[in-house]
Amino acid sequence: MKNVELMEKIEFYINRLGQVGLKDGIRWRCAYTKEDKAAKELFKSLIENEGLLASEDAVGNVYGKLKNSIDYTDVKKILVGSHIDTVRDGGAYDGAAGIIIGLLAVSETIKKFGAPKIPIEVIALTEEEGSRYAMSYVGSRAIVNGLMENELNSVDEDGISLKTAMLLAGYDPDNVMKAKRDDIHSYFEVHIEQGPVLEKTGNKIGIIERINGIFFIEVEIIGREDHAGTTPMNMRLDSLSAASKFMAKLPEVVAEISNSATATVGKIRVEPGSSNVVPKKTIFTIDFRDMDVDKLTRMNEAIQLELNQLKHQGFKVNCNLATSELPVDLNKELINLCEVVVKDLGLPYMRMNSGAGHDAQIFAERFPASLLFIPCKDGRSHSPVEFASNEDIAIAVEVMSGILKKLAW
Ligand code: GLV
Ligand code: MN
Ligand code: MN
Repeated sequence: MKNVELMEKIEFYINRLGQVGLKDGIRWRCAYTKEDKAAKELFKSLIENEGLLASEDAVGNVYGKLKNSIDYTDVKKILVGSHIDTVRDGGAYDGAAGIIIGLLAVSETIKKFGAPKIPIEVIALTEEEGSRYAMSYVGSRAIVNGLMENELNSVDEDGISLKTAMLLAGYDPDNVMKAKRDDIHSYFEVHIEQGPVLEKTGNKIGIIERINGIFFIEVEIIGREDHAGTTPMNMRLDSLSAASKFMAKLPEVVAEISNSATATVGKIRVEPGSSNVVPKKTIFTIDFRDMDVDKLTRMNEAIQLELNQLKHQGFKVNCNLATSELPVDLNKELINLCEVVVKDLGLPYMRMNSGAGHDAQIFAERFPASLLFIPCKDGRSHSPVEFASNEDIAIAVEVMSGILKKLAW
């Protein structure tokens, strides 16, 4: 396909998918909602449009498989893709660019070279972001390790469990183990960088060596609800006031352990949530990340210690370490393979680490996994302003096609 045609297709696919889940200017596609279903139906139609066979597994990961006469039954499969969900008020490229690049790379390579020796499957993974449940990587976890009972019982803000949400969306939670796989040769993911480095340095491809560890705590501080006008300031147990003091101190708590760590309180809810009632309960999340597992463990202890101090003032404190993804090194042979292809194409590139979490880190627990970045405008992501150019996406299609050609034909 000529470059112009490829870029028109990229534009069309990104725009179509980007429209799904947009309501009042806010884009949100999270697990097992009608927006999630609509995105999956659309992606299945794009898969069919590219001449592949669309299907879904037991947890709603969408696959695009080869339609041909070769029997691949006993051959391990190459997976290429990313995730189809978005954060709340997210952009049109995080995850979406990767599944579209995967799809176009596979179809372009097959058009040029016919059926591969090693089978390739395009994959659009369910719920990587964890924007509905305090659990990320639902789709890749289901494939790599299987989903556990406690994970299926986690609840969203409305008290709906993951299990129930699955049932309501037409999946049988008793079948989740059917999504687990052993027959994977390797997993490839392209993703927007979500940071400014590639753009600033003029590089077109980032080859990822290591993905940092991500810990995620859900916190509940429970005080007492009281009348906002009649309860003197020194006689209250105001959970929000206590939480805000802790949040102001959080950067200091982590900086004492690591100067490269990040810590973010991105979600907060107050109960009962009335302007004239002292907040009884404050519920919030802490996402903290680092490349060093010892530092993550120490930060977890320091954060919980700091929060538990509030018990001396009469508050109840509950902390739940909902996610503890360890830092991961990606497969060295695949890093070298990617480097050869990028060099052959004469593209400016760099090796780098990822501060963001990606499904590749889950696959890397059991299979050779690879992650590539492309530049995004001003490094902005997890925002509706997120943008990657059609030209840069087309370059990634060419790179991924080159990698697949070397590996599978
Ligand atoms: C995924 O986008 C993450 O890094 O939180
Ligand atoms: Mn994201
Ligand atoms: Mn992503």
